[in-house]
Amino acid sequence: MSPLLFGLLVLLLFAGEVVVTTRAQGTSGDKDVLVELKRFLQEHNKVNRGAYDSWPESDASPCRWHGVTCDLAGRVTSLDLAGASISGPAFGNFSRLPALSWLDLSGNTLSGPGDIGQCRGLVHLNLSRNLISGPLDLAGLTRLRTLDVSGNRLEGGVAANFPAICADLAMLNVSTNRLTGNITGMLDGCARLEYVDLSSNNFTGELWPGIARFREFSGAENKLTGSVPPATFTDGCRLESLDLSSNQLVGKFPDSITKCANLTYLSLWGNKFTGVIPAGMGELALVQTLILGKNQFDRRIPPELTNCSRLQFLDISSNMFGGDVQDIFGKFQSLRYLVLHHNNYTGGIVTSGVLRLPQLARLDLSFNEFSGELPQEVADMKSLKYLMLACNNFSGEIPQAYGRLGELQALDLSYNKLTGAIPASVGNLTSLLWLMLAGNQLSGEIPPEIGNCTSLLWLNLANNRLTGKIPPEMAAIGRDPGPTFAKNRNDASVLAGSGECQAMKRWIPASYPPFSFVYSVMTRENCRSIWDRILKGYGIVPICTNSSSPVRSDTISGYVQLSGNRLSGEIPPQIGAMRNLSLLHLDGNRLTGRLPPEIGQLPLVVLNVSRNSISGPVPSAIGRILCLEMLDLSYNNFSGELPASLSQLTELNRFNVSYNPLLSGSVPTSGQFGTFDEQSFLGDPLISLGRGSGKQPPPEAAGRSGGCEARDVTENHCGVVLFSLLVAFIAGAALFFLSNLRARFPVDQDPDPESFSWENHKCDSGKCALQMSTSSPPSGTSSSTATACSMAKEGWRPKPEEVPSPVSLELLMLGMRCTADAPQERPDMPDVLAALLDIAASCRYRNGAQLEFT
Ligand SMILES: *[C@@H]1O[C@H](CO)[C@@H](O)[C@H](O)[C@H]1NC(C)=O
Ligand SMILES: *[C@@H]1O[C@H](CO)[C@@H](O)[C@H](O)[C@H]1NC(C)=O
Ligand SMILES: *[C@@H]1O[C@H](CO)[C@@H](O)[C@H](O)[C@H]1NC(C)=O
Ligand SMILES: *[C@@H]1O[C@H](CO)[C@@H](O)[C@H](O)[C@H]1NC(C)=O
Ligand SMILES: *[C@@H]1O[C@H](CO)[C@@H](O)[C@H](O)[C@H]1NC(C)=O
Ligand SMILES: *[C@@H]1O[C@H](CO)[C@@H](O)[C@H](O)[C@H]1NC(C)=O
Ligand SMILES: *[C@@H]1O[C@H](CO)[C@@H](O)[C@H](O)[C@H]1NC(C)=O
Ligand SMILES: *[C@@H]1O[C@H](CO)[C@@H](O)[C@H](O)[C@H]1NC(C)=O
Ligand SMILES: *[C@@H]1O[C@H](CO)[C@@H](O)[C@H](O)[C@H]1NC(C)=O
Ligand SMILES: *[C@@H]1O[C@H](CO)[C@@H](O)[C@H](O)[C@H]1NC(C)=O
Ligand SMILES: *[C@@H]1O[C@H](CO)[C@@H](O)[C@H](O)[C@H]1NC(C)=O
Ligand SMILES: *[C@@H]1O[C@H](CO)[C@@H](O)[C@H](O)[C@H]1NC(C)=O
Repeated sequence: MSPLLFGLLVLLLFAGEVVVTTRAQGTSGDKDVLVELKRFLQEHNKVNRGAYDSWPESDASPCRWHGVTCDLAGRVTSLDLAGASISGPAFGNFSRLPALSWLDLSGNTLSGPGDIGQCRGLVHLNLSRNLISGPLDLAGLTRLRTLDVSGNRLEGGVAANFPAICADLAMLNVSTNRLTGNITGMLDGCARLEYVDLSSNNFTGELWPGIARFREFSGAENKLTGSVPPATFTDGCRLESLDLSSNQLVGKFPDSITKCANLTYLSLWGNKFTGVIPAGMGELALVQTLILGKNQFDRRIPPELTNCSRLQFLDISSNMFGGDVQDIFGKFQSLRYLVLHHNNYTGGIVTSGVLRLPQLARLDLSFNEFSGELPQEVADMKSLKYLMLACNNFSGEIPQAYGRLGELQALDLSYNKLTGAIPASVGNLTSLLWLMLAGNQLSGEIPPEIGNCTSLLWLNLANNRLTGKIPPEMAAIGRDPGPTFAKNRNDASVLAGSGECQAMKRWIPASYPPFSFVYSVMTRENCRSIWDRILKGYGIVPICTNSSSPVRSDTISGYVQLSGNRLSGEIPPQIGAMRNLSLLHLDGNRLTGRLPPEIGQLPLVVLNVSRNSISGPVPSAIGRILCLEMLDLSYNNFSGELPASLSQLTELNRFNVSYNPLLSGSVPTSGQFGTFDEQSFLGDPLISLGRGSGKQPPPEAAGRSGGCEARDVTENHCGVVLFSLLVAFIAGAALFFLSNLRARFPVDQDPDPESFSWENHKCDSGKCALQMSTSSPPSGTSSSTATACSMAKEGWRPKPEEVPSPVSLELLMLGMRCTADAPQERPDMPDVLAALLDIAASCRYRNGAQLEFT
C-alpha cells in the first residue's frame, strides 16, 4: 500500500468520525424544527394535507422523510414542500435549519414569506405560485443562485434587493406579480445573472444595454417605454431568448439585434414599433421564432430575413399591411407556422407563393379582406395541419380537392360567404379535429361521409342553410381521435408554445360549460400551452365521460353545433353513440319527430334542441344524464308529462321547457327543480308548478347544485323581480363573504382584450361572438342560486393558476352558497370557508366526491 493511499484512508476514517459526531448533534436540532414545522402545518391545514402529514416522528433522523434531504453530516439541506396543500402564513422558524440551502414552497397558498429572509444559507428558493403579498425583501439572502417568486401578489419596487442578493444569482423569476418601479439598469450589479423573467408586472423604464448579457430576458407585459437604442445589443450579446411583448416601446427596432447571434426566440408583439423590420435580423442564423405582430411595421419586409434558415414560426399579424400578401412570405422555405391574421389583405395568397412553402403546417390568414374563391392550390399542401381562413369575404364552394389534405387537423372557414354543399370528400379528412364552417351560406345536406372523420371532436356548422336530415352516419364522428393525438404526442415538431390564441378563443364556446371554464382561464401566455395540450389529447378540465356516472376525469370532450340551419326530420337514434360529446346544439332548425331516448347515453353538459318542431314525450332517459347543467327544450311540441326522472339532475342550473303547450304534469319540487321559477315554464298552460312561486328553494337543493359556470343570467327578467327579496338577502350575505375573499384572491386580470382582438375588426357586430355561442343560453334559470353565483363571479374571479379546476370553483361557490343561505346557523362559517378556500386553491379533488359539512 502506498503511503499516499494510506494517508487518504486515514483521512477518510477521520472524516467519518467527524460526520458521525456532528450527525448526533445536528439531527436532533433539525428534527425538532421539522416536527415543529409539521405541527404548525397541521394546525393551519385542517382539511387537505401534503406528504409532511405522515413524517414519522419516531425516526431518529428526519433525513428519509418525504421532501427532506440531508448532507453527509445529517443536517437538513433541502426541503421540498412544493404543491403540499399548504395555506396560511409561512412557518416562522426555517432559519433554525442552519444548513438549509434549498427550499421549495411553490404551488401552495402561502400568504407570507415567514422568516425566509433570514435563511442566509439559501442557494435555491422557490416560492412561485403562492398568494404572497407585500414588498419583496430578500436582501439577506446573499448566496442565492436561483430565485423564483413568480405568480404571487408581490407589490412595490424590487430595487432594494439588487445588488444585495446578486453575488451568485443566475436565475431570477419575478413574473406575474404586481411589482412596480423603474428597472432600467437595476440588474447591472448581478454579474452572473443569465435567466431573467420580469414579465407580467407593472415595471416601468427603458431597455438598457445590460440585457445583452443575459441568455434569456423577458420584460413582457409591463409598461416599458421609449425606443430601443441601438446600444442595447452590444458586441458579444448572449441573448438566446428575448421577449418584449405587450409593452409601450416605440420607434424603429435597431439593426444591432444582429449582434445577438445565438438568438432563437424573439417576440416584439404588441408594441408600437414602426419603420422597417431590421434587415439585420436576417443574420440571426439560429432564430426559430419571430413574433412581430400587433405593431406598425412597414409593409416592406427586408429580403435579408429569408436568410434565417431555421425560422419556423413567423407571426406578423395585426400590422394593417393591406393589399396583396407580400411575395417575400413565399420565400421562407423553412417556415412551419405563418400567422398573418388581421392585416386587411385583399389578395395575393396564390401569387405570393405561401401555398408552396414545403413545410408549412399552419397558415392563418383569418381576419383579412380576401374575396373570391378559396384557392384550389391549398389542396396540394401536403404538410398542412391547420388552415384558418375565417372572417374573410371568400365566396363560392369549398373545393372538393381539400379532401386530399390528409394531415389536416383544423379547418376553419367560418364567417365567409361560402355557398354550395359541404363536399363529400370531407370524409377523407381522418385527422381532422376541428371543422369550423359556421356563419356561411352553405346549403344542401350534411354529407354522410362526414362520419368517416374519426378524429372530428369539434364540429360547428351553425348559421348556414343546411337542409335535409341529420345523417345517422354523423354519429360516428370523433369516435377515435386516439391515432391523431398519438401522432401529435410523438411529433417533435409540434413546437411547444406554438399555439394560436385567437383561434383557440374562437373555437371554445365562451358561454357553455365545460368549455366556459377553459375559456375563462385562458390568458395570452397559457393559451399556447392549452392548445398544445389539447392537440396531444390531454384534458384540461375534469368532465363527465359516462352519462350515468357523475365521476369526472381529465379528458377531451367535443361539441356539435348545428344551430340556425334548416335541418329537418327526426334526430337519428344513432346519436347515442357520440360518447365524446359534452355539448349538443340543434336549436333553430326544423327538426320533427320525437327526441330519441338514446340521447340519454351522451355525457352531455349542455343540450339545446330549442326552436324546432319536436313532438312526443320528453324522454325520461334525459334524467340519466347526470352531469347535465343546461337543458333547453323550449319552443317545440313536446307533449305528455314531464318525466319525474328529471329531478335526478342535481347539476342542472338552466332549464327551459317554455312554449311546449301540450306539456303537462307537475314540476318536481325536490332537488334542483325546487329552484326553477315560471321562466322555465312560460307558455306551458298544462304544467302545474305545485308550489308558491316565491317559495324559497329547499336548502339542500341550493347547496348541491354543481355548476356556476353559466355566464350570463341577465335574461332572467321577472324572475329577478319575484325573487328580489330573497336575492337581496343572499346578496348581502354573499357580499360580506366576498369582501373576505377579495382579501385573499385578486380581482380578475383580464388578458389584454386586444390580444384576442377577433372582434375589433370587421368581424365585430357579434359575428364571431356568434360563432362561439350560436344560440343564446336557455332563459329559464334557477334564479336564487344563479344570481348569487353570478354576483360571485362578477365580483370575484380567480386567477387561473390559483384555481386549477372548475371543481374547486364549484366548491368555493358551494361554500358561499351554504354561507349565504343560512349565515346565522353557521357561526363557524369563516373557518369552513377558509378550509374551502384551501381546498379550492390546491384542489386535489377526488372524482365524484361530495364535500360534507358537519
Ligand atoms: C419559532 O421558535 C420559537 C422558539 O425558538 C417559538 O417560540 C416560536 O413559536 C416558533 N415559531 C413558530 C411559527 O413556530
Ligand atoms: C418552481 O416551482 C415551479 C412549480 O413547482 C416550477 O414550475 C418551477 O420550474 C420552479 N422554479 C425553478 C426555478 O426551479
Ligand atoms: C417564470 O415563472 C413563470 C410563471 O411561473 C413561468 O411561466 C416562466 O416560464 C418562468 N420563467 C423562466 C425563465 O423560467
Ligand atoms: C398595473 O397597474 C394598473 C393601474 O395602473 C392596474 O390596473 C393593473 O392591474 C396593474 N397590473 C398588474 C399586473 O399589477
Ligand atoms: C428610469 O431610470 C433611468 C436611469 O436611472 C432614467 O434614465 C429613466 O429616465 C427612468 N425612467 C423612468 C420612466 O422613470
Ligand atoms: C453561443 O452559443 C455557443 C454554443 O452554445 C456558445 O459556445 C457561445 O459562447 C455563445 N455565444 C455567446 C456570445 O454567448
Ligand atoms: C444571405 O446570406 C448570404 C451569405 O450567407 C449573402 O451572400 C446574401 O447576400 C444574403 N442574402 C440576403 C438577401 O441578404
Ligand atoms: C365581399 O364580397 C361581396 C361579393 O361576394 C362584395 O359585394 C362585397 O363588397 C365584399 N365585401 C368586402 C368588404 O370586400
Ligand atoms: C383521400 O386521401 C388520399 C390520400 O390521403 C388521396 O389520395 C385521395 O385522392 C383523397 N380522396 C379525395 C376524394 O380527395
Ligand atoms: C365513408 O363513408 C361512406 C358513406 O357513409 C361509406 O360508404 C364508406 O365506406 C366510408 N369510407 C370509409 C373508408 O370509412
Ligand atoms: C357508466 O357508469 C355506470 C354506472 O356507474 C356503469 O354501470 C357503466 O358500466 C358505465 N358505462 C361505461 C361505458 O363505462
Ligand atoms: C384596415 O383596417 C383598419 C382597421 O380595421 C381600417 O381602419 C382600414 O380602413 C382598413 N384598411 C383598408 C385598406 O381596408
